[in-house]
Amino acid sequence: MDSAYIQSVLDSAHDLLNRSILYHHGKPVGTAAALDTSVVAPNYEECFVRDFVPSALVFLMKGETEIVRNFLNLVVDLRGQQSVMDGHERAVGLMPASFRVPRESDVNGEPSADFGDRAIGRVAPVDSAMWWMLLLRAYVVNSGDIALAHSEKFQDSMRMVLQMYLQESFETSPAMLVPDASFMIDRRMGVYGHPLEIQALFYGMLQTAIELLKPVAVNEALLSTAKKRLQTLRSYVRIYYWLDQQRLNEIHRFRSEEFGHDAVNLLNIYPETIPDWIDGWVPENAGYLVGNLGPGRMDFRFFVFGNLLSIMFGLTTDDQSTQIMNLYDTHWDDLVGQMPVKICYPAVTGEKWAYTTGSDPKNVPWSYHNGGHWPCLLWAFSGAALRNGRDDLAHRALQIGFKKLMKDGWPEYYDGKKGTLIGRRSNYQQVWTAAGLIVAHQLLEDPGALPVFESINF
Ligand code: GLC
Repeated sequence: MDSAYIQSVLDSAHDLLNRSILYHHGKPVGTAAALDTSVVAPNYEECFVRDFVPSALVFLMKGETEIVRNFLNLVVDLRGQQSVMDGHERAVGLMPASFRVPRESDVNGEPSADFGDRAIGRVAPVDSAMWWMLLLRAYVVNSGDIALAHSEKFQDSMRMVLQMYLQESFETSPAMLVPDASFMIDRRMGVYGHPLEIQALFYGMLQTAIELLKPVAVNEALLSTAKKRLQTLRSYVRIYYWLDQQRLNEIHRFRSEEFGHDAVNLLNIYPETIPDWIDGWVPENAGYLVGNLGPGRMDFRFFVFGNLLSIMFGLTTDDQSTQIMNLYDTHWDDLVGQMPVKICYPAVTGEKWAYTTGSDPKNVPWSYHNGGHWPCLLWAFSGAALRNGRDDLAHRALQIGFKKLMKDGWPEYYDGKKGTLIGRRSNYQQVWTAAGLIVAHQLLEDPGALPVFESINF
């Protein structure tokens, strides 16, 4: 690929990103999810908190910190808009999934937020507040503006988030319990309980909170709980979510129905639940964190974002990170194929699809969240690969992105076992697709250019 072509792809990605910027009272406050004018779903005009993350990373790398600062401030202000159902109280630590800005002509209009009450899936965005905090850290590291994080408004906000996320609910493990579809996979996909992506974000958020909350009396108790939870969560994930050949052998021969505190099969997983596809799939010197874990339930599917974030945040050991990247090496065709990277492997099919997704036509096998390919994850793939010294894999994935994404019109996702088809209901001009490519490219060009994850072991 010649450098002029690479530059034209980058220019096109930057152009899409710049055109997506949303303004309020003349100030940039976020980016729209997609600029595809033919889309039916109107909420793609909105700024989604999770979608803004790769956009923000691009702005920070360019030294354009203002938009990120405005975004962080606005999201805090919007929390007051959460509607409360009768018989409920406001969940003050929750942050919105997305917000829309009023049209320019509406000079008195205010941005309005969605807390999952009007989104299609009607789910509470558990990931938003965690992304907000991680982004705050990225902003502080990049701009040096620690004063923002130390301001009363932001200290207060962080406390509210931590209070909510550390509050006791019905847990029996250090992992966080959430409803189905409460993160990037925001439609029913059997990801209720303790999905990996939430645990990885929780871990990253706890590290961030420990760094950014001031060590003053009012924070003492929260900081102490956060530190303990961080450790127990880390050990728990590293031991119980981990799956390699040796662990699979152990599970295969598990005794069940063990009573008491010394149980080896802690969660009473029945070996009969091991799916057929996994037999022979995990090679030697490779492994991954399983997608979900709860009483009597191990979801063996490989959920990509959770694994990549775990590598980036140091939730996995160095050895486990190496093994996850080895899995990519062996199963490149299944996990990357013609478009980096598949969101989860394998797809659920047949009757299992019907009861896992509620017969969701968008999540048919090998499409969308159910085994589709999402180029927006390129940045996380590159970050994880680079952190693990696998520049070769990061390069290989990025090449595919350069070759296809601009020509295909920056699609949101791809379908098919190998990701050869543009997603049936995919938007074009999807902003985090373009931002993800820019970040991945920048990381490879100059790994030191993005110090945002540095002290979380990046
Ligand atoms: C889809 C994705 C979600 C994303 C949104 C906007 O609903 O599942 O993760 O935030 O689109 O792009």
